[in-house]
Amino acid sequence: MVPNDETLFDKVVNLSKRRGFVFQSAEIYGGFRSTYDYGPIGVLLLRNVKDQWWRSMVQMRHDVVGLDASILSPPAVWEASGHLANFTDPLVDCRECGDRHREDKLVDPSTCPSCGATGTLTEARQFNLMFKTHAGPVTETAAEVYLRPETAQGMFTNFANVLNTSRKRPPFGIAQIGKSFRNEITPGNFVFRTREFEQMELEFFVPPDDSDEWFEHWCEVRRNWYLDLGMPDDRLRLRAHEGDELSHYSKATSDVEFLFPWGWDELEGIANRTDFDLRRHAEASGTRLEYLDPATNEKYVPHVIEPAAGATRTAMAFLMAAYDEEEVRGEQRTVLRLDPRLAPYTMAVLPLSKKPELVEPSREVLGLLQPHWMCDYDETQAIGRRYRRQDEIGTPFCVTVDFETLDDRAITVRDRDSMEQERVPIDELVDHLRARLRT
Ligand code: GAP
Repeated sequence: MVPNDETLFDKVVNLSKRRGFVFQSAEIYGGFRSTYDYGPIGVLLLRNVKDQWWRSMVQMRHDVVGLDASILSPPAVWEASGHLANFTDPLVDCRECGDRHREDKLVDPSTCPSCGATGTLTEARQFNLMFKTHAGPVTETAAEVYLRPETAQGMFTNFANVLNTSRKRPPFGIAQIGKSFRNEITPGNFVFRTREFEQMELEFFVPPDDSDEWFEHWCEVRRNWYLDLGMPDDRLRLRAHEGDELSHYSKATSDVEFLFPWGWDELEGIANRTDFDLRRHAEASGTRLEYLDPATNEKYVPHVIEPAAGATRTAMAFLMAAYDEEEVRGEQRTVLRLDPRLAPYTMAVLPLSKKPELVEPSREVLGLLQPHWMCDYDETQAIGRRYRRQDEIGTPFCVTVDFETLDDRAITVRDRDSMEQERVPIDELVDHLRARLRT
């Protein structure tokens, strides 16, 4: 067991770099602050987090459809959504050391957290978090565009398109996974708060009178999603926002919070956005964004319940929840106890030796497994060290091909958590693993 404190944080950051989960972006140029690249193992974990979200939010529901909207958008979208006026953080500068901070995150508002000087912080000014750039070759005001700070607005601006083409009717939702960008004043805590990140968002459109009920529904569903994928109950909680914390569009918000090494912090916000966004876009664009119920002939602007999660932040939380160390026969073993649905590799095929007579059947076994699961293949080093390497990246099963395989056409399946080994005929391997994974 590793204590849930700085030790855990450092160990996870260290493992992430060492094993290829996350690299600092542009590292060969000294790194680019607070931007990260997902390496060969990290990209698999991140993809699995997103796939599990998509599976539960779109594939397994009859009332949600998907969308992939553009990242660049014109100022009109952000004017209508209220982001140009309201998507700001209070920024203070230290006159002593020049560092900048978010005033609302200061423990002691009179002291600079960087240099410790007191009375040196300026008055707060509102800093808009949106990244602005220019479309086309001319850098003029008319060519200004924004990188989206949330994926949500794509769902609102496409509301009529989706309604007309999907034949869905409220209650129904539009889901999207994609990159968002925020010019955060104080990015930090590794990939927890970055300027470029991925979100997984659902906008769920409901009849206005049903919005409170749907809000409760989504709080419950989303909390259970994390628990089902292995987050420990005692490190997960739902916390309702105080009135002064609410975003400009929200009537009520509850956060799903995870107990990070630095304390409780947000993984996801579930907000009741009312009809704020649809109304604002209808007014600004002149397009009707409403629903006519053919049964009652009633016309209304749907209200929106929005579960909005961060994919990159959530992947990091799963890593922290899964990280474990234990002593095995006098040696320390690091093991990521990730749910098999999230583990970067579901299995690894390991020939006991590099000899060609073992490599050939190992490749055959690999070929049997690859159509079903993401597999690693490793023929270097002693087998014990290879098991440890797989434990460290959370691979649930190692499949070992040894010299006996040549006689009995069976292999050994080793379990990551119990380390128990079982002999299984190659012909039964896929069914055997499928049964153990319950997929
Ligand atoms: N559409 C609503 C919305 O964007 P949010 O609470 O600002 O709400 C939703 O963002 C989620 O996106 C957060 O709970 C968090 O997981 C993730 N997120 C937000 N800002 C982030 C950042 N700078 N770095 C990483 N993840 C971030």
